Amino acid sequence: MIITDSLITSFLQTRSDTEEICAPLQTEDYVVQPIVDVSPPKWHMGHTTWFFEEFILSKYLENYKRFHPEYAYVFNSYYESIGKRVIRTNRGNLSRPTVREVYEYRDYITSQMQSFLEENQDFKIRELVEIGIHHEKQHQELLLTDIKFILGTNPLLPKYNDTFTENPICDQNLGYNTINEGVYEIGYAGNEFCYDNELGRHKVFLEEYAISNELITNREYIEFINDKGYENSLLWHSEAWDWIHNSAIKTPLYWHIIEGQYYQYTLQGLKMINPIAPVTHISYYEAFAFAQWKGERLPTEFEWEVAQPFFNWGKRWEWTESAYLPYPNYKKASGALGEYNGKFMVNQKVLRGGSVATPQNHIRPTYRNFFHPHLRWQFTGLRLVKEL
Ligand SMILES: [Fe+2]
Repeated sequence: MIITDSLITSFLQTRSDTEEICAPLQTEDYVVQPIVDVSPPKWHMGHTTWFFEEFILSKYLENYKRFHPEYAYVFNSYYESIGKRVIRTNRGNLSRPTVREVYEYRDYITSQMQSFLEENQDFKIRELVEIGIHHEKQHQELLLTDIKFILGTNPLLPKYNDTFTENPICDQNLGYNTINEGVYEIGYAGNEFCYDNELGRHKVFLEEYAISNELITNREYIEFINDKGYENSLLWHSEAWDWIHNSAIKTPLYWHIIEGQYYQYTLQGLKMINPIAPVTHISYYEAFAFAQWKGERLPTEFEWEVAQPFFNWGKRWEWTESAYLPYPNYKKASGALGEYNGKFMVNQKVLRGGSVATPQNHIRPTYRNFFHPHLRWQFTGLRLVKEL
């Protein structure tokens, strides 16, 4: 029996979307790793492929022959229970496999998966394929942000393409929306895919608060800079103050000051800052300091989730004041996939919403992204909450 359905279509579409993201790259762009957090595009392409090979084909396809016996070593990211791997800092030191070989690996796994899914789609397999698809979509966003870092920290500031739009404008004067105090339900309640960290659904009590209906813009952020926000220690956490000094941080990432004007590297090249676009590429530390300067604060992730039906979101990943912690009754997936989210629930902040780089159908109101507080190479931003 040959099965053709939306799962196969969605799998094939996701695989080709990844390749389309990489299409504008030159071969050399695929290989470098300028900082530890930024992986080479070649590695992302191999790693998302390995995920299907490791978690599905090697376990469920009888007599499956791996494409290459050492690729699990090269393309495993952080799954301790699966085995040894290239240390993260060395991902950019590998000239082999070549970019061409990685594309051949992708083609091999895509076609093996397609034939496998035409014959076999029991519940367990469908569940794993869905995780694999969402995993690859997560990496599509990382590809865009990593490509931006690779090109945007190169002194030549090469552009990625002429079409990627990362600075939609903000609606003006939308004001704040008041949310009544009360008990609210938090977490995923639907029947579609969600990650384990969005469960279990549970109740929280919220005090009354007012949340801004739009993100903070570049114009507002420039006011903070001009008011010497980066020089006022009273606005900053202690470790944030050390960080801005040790790293000489005076603006968001990718900003350039040329003849007194602010410019910003974008995937379309260097552009003048648009004052009514939402500020982006800021750390949690900067988001917090900005909120202090305004006399307001960041929303908790619960406040964000309860209020989100009332505002537009999806331009920037929005820093929240919440630590990334398990919900009550959180259950890790069994086996190696239990390493997907749970082991990162320490020392990170939750971001909500999604960004211009997030693929369609990958985000939900309950989606919990998470990063360390100093990181800012994702399309991050903020909105504010006023206490009432
Ligand atoms: Fe991954």
